[in-house]
Amino acid sequence: MKTLRQIITNAANRGVAVGHFNVAETSVLKAVFESAKKLGVPVIIGTSEGEAGFLGRKQAAALVRSLREEYKFPIFINSDHTHSFEEVKKAVAAGYDAILFDGGKLPLAENIRQTKKVVQYVKSKNKNILVEGELGNIGSGSTIRKEFPKGAAIKPEDLTKPEEALKFVKATGVDLLAPAVGNIHGMFKNAPEPALDIERIRAIKKAVKIPLVLHGGSGNTNKDFKAAIKAGISIIHISTELRVAWRKGLERGLRENREELAPYKILAEAVAEVEKVVYTKLRLFN
Ligand code: G3H
Ligand code: ZN
Repeated sequence: MKTLRQIITNAANRGVAVGHFNVAETSVLKAVFESAKKLGVPVIIGTSEGEAGFLGRKQAAALVRSLREEYKFPIFINSDHTHSFEEVKKAVAAGYDAILFDGGKLPLAENIRQTKKVVQYVKSKNKNILVEGELGNIGSGSTIRKEFPKGAAIKPEDLTKPEEALKFVKATGVDLLAPAVGNIHGMFKNAPEPALDIERIRAIKKAVKIPLVLHGGSGNTNKDFKAAIKAGISIIHISTELRVAWRKGLERGLRENREELAPYKILAEAVAEVEKVVYTKLRLFN
């Protein structure tokens, strides 16, 4: 089976993107896996620090590994938005395939210092684990928003600059880069997502030449996704839309099965709802 690095390189060469979906429990994992299997496309499971705390790091990694091995299917796990060195160590020990060290809100020099330390540590333990760095503030939290996240970059002068991206990549040695290109975490309640800056993506890709990761994919338009992939995005993160679908399915499951006690019967509705979202996104990205 191809490694995650080969899969991402392959996606970049073919002008497609690998879908990355956040998971905190097994009904969502099941939905993501089933959709990827139906389409026969590789997929990445992400766990944020909160999600990993709920599921257990070793348990999350073991679940994903067991699917990969039993079905000989390219499903991988990423330690998403890992903010501390301690959590990086835990992810490595648990057997994660990739780690995003998120120093996006730190000043550039400090982000470089901490990310470099993470790359050196991870590679000293296992060269095959991919390390992603984050450059720029895209707000945090996969949630429905009433207002724009404080401090997040939206004006052109605040987005990730190609020359800073190159400096960051050269100094840290990251395998993947998550820039701020008009993307934000979460979705607005009553407003469309800001448009992505496609030219900025193209310029950053031209400068750094490594695969780029688009975070905050919920709520962005299909047109923007297609243009972003063409401009150099190789992985796309989706979380909020999955959470919305999960809750909608769960509520329906409870409403329509008032006397039911078996979790797997109630949760079947949540799985179905999440599957629809993942299937649609994966088909678009691929
Ligand atoms: O790392 C997680 C993602 O960037 C998800 O962002 O909740 O806006 O889809 P989203
Ligand atoms: Zn993210």
